[in-house]
Amino acid sequence: MDLKLMVWRQAGPDAKGTMEEIAALGISEHASFLEMLDVVNEGLIAEDKEPIAFDHDCREGICGCCGAVIDGVAHGPQPGTTLCQLHMRNYKDGDTIYIEPWRAKAFPVIRDLVVDRDAMDHIIQAGGFVSVGTGAAPDANAIPVPKIQADLAMDFASCIGCGACVASCPNASAMLFTAAKVAQLNLLPQGQPERYRRARAMVDTMEAEGFGGCTNHGECEAVCPKEISVDAITRLNRDFIMATWKK
Ligand code: SF4
Ligand code: FES
Repeated sequence: MDLKLMVWRQAGPDAKGTMEEIAALGISEHASFLEMLDVVNEGLIAEDKEPIAFDHDCREGICGCCGAVIDGVAHGPQPGTTLCQLHMRNYKDGDTIYIEPWRAKAFPVIRDLVVDRDAMDHIIQAGGFVSVGTGAAPDANAIPVPKIQADLAMDFASCIGCGACVASCPNASAMLFTAAKVAQLNLLPQGQPERYRRARAMVDTMEAEGFGGCTNHGECEAVCPKEISVDAITRLNRDFIMATWKK
């Protein structure tokens, strides 16, 4: 199929960006969205033009590297799907597709569709861990974890840190990401000693990094490729209030 792409092109963080029309010709319906961009880039390179810069790694929907806003929707039109798992069979010959980077103050554009997501790493560094004292390694499975807690923690742990929740939120809030990372630890016995400190530190860092606050739009849940529930935010709010009381 032949497509018309309208792609955000920006040479660097301080350069002025613009939408550029690029033809994508002879694209297989079996290609993934990123494979389609690969084909387009091969053509651009053959014409001695700059290829479109975009992030990717696993191309299996598990690493969280890929992502772009496709026709106004983070990760494109297929629910519960990363951009690398979106396939061109979702489009038809002659379609025009708008492709833009994540847009958020905390995610400055590095080049074209690539944004700097260090701010999410800083949130993790503030509390996304369980401190373990030195000494002999504890026996495996020494602390029983109720299955219902373990399953719920695993649901929240499926967050791949892609940033689509931020890109889709009118406030550019990272609440769903932060809440999932807090909940995956705060649900487990091993996460209890640092539970409230963790919630406070990660929310404080989220604000300091320039992400907005949550006002319950729910766009984050709608675009999340791992379909993480906004229930995580309810849990985070409760732990955050407890952290404030315990100060
Ligand atoms: S909560 Fe969902 S959309 Fe947000 S970073 Fe995690 S996987 Fe991506
Ligand atoms: S490239 Fe790893 S999730 Fe898309």
